Amino acid sequence: MEIMEMLGESKEYIESKLGGRKPQIGLILGSGLGDMADAIEDPVVIDYHDIPHFPVSTVPGHKGHLVIGGLEGKTVLCMQGRFHYYEGYSMEQVVYPVRTMKMLGIENLFLTNAAGCVNENWRPGDLMLITDHIKLIADSPLRGRNPDELGPRFFDMTQAYDKILITVAEKAAIKKGIAVRKGVYMLFTGPAFETAAEVRFARIAGADAVGMSTVPEAIAASHMKMHTIGISCLTNMAAGILDQPLNHEEVLETGERVKKTFSALVREIIRTWPV
Ligand code: HPA
Repeated sequence: MEIMEMLGESKEYIESKLGGRKPQIGLILGSGLGDMADAIEDPVVIDYHDIPHFPVSTVPGHKGHLVIGGLEGKTVLCMQGRFHYYEGYSMEQVVYPVRTMKMLGIENLFLTNAAGCVNENWRPGDLMLITDHIKLIADSPLRGRNPDELGPRFFDMTQAYDKILITVAEKAAIKKGIAVRKGVYMLFTGPAFETAAEVRFARIAGADAVGMSTVPEAIAASHMKMHTIGISCLTNMAAGILDQPLNHEEVLETGERVKKTFSALVREIIRTWPV
């Protein structure tokens, strides 16, 4: 089946559950941040399993449903659980939900993730507004035949992380008294954490954070000219910076520690988001 036909079926199924509600902002919640979806008012919850052509999440700690409803005066469509390349999905499958959002008329995308901190001046628990990314791996969600209905074959990435939205986020952070960093996110495919040498390489290349998500979604969103913001919760110092091994528990623990602050920031950004 052609991608546009598949997307059309996914969109129709989701729309049939929304009772005329029109989501304005797509929100993807990263590792340990999924609880935020519980704040959504009058939620419609749709299991990924039930949506035609949707991939299904396999990671412990990642839930697999869409939550659609009100948040801070906006109607949001929230992905509680995302798809990662390391799970075995193709890049095209990883970005399938973002394309479905666009089909539903959503022009705004809020990406969140947990990431390793490469910048040695920063600390675990810091929040970073993504200003740009580095994708050194060869694969791309747009590799192969271009779905012309979604966007052009060759497309700009200089606006992938919307500068206006970064300003909105900085103002939101000041209003809430939350310190935020700004920096570059570099994609590694995982599931192994990076080596110490890879982290040194990332730093020299200009990265402030490393992680295993977000980049494919930001690329697909840019292709479709969606307005995108990305925020990383820096859950741990990246490999080799401290004299200790990395583990997923630390990622979850830090996520747990900062989730209140993080969700306060996310909510204030959504409240002030110019839709
Ligand atoms: N590396 C890659 N992804 C991550 C990390 C990390 O150190 N921490 C949380 N997600």
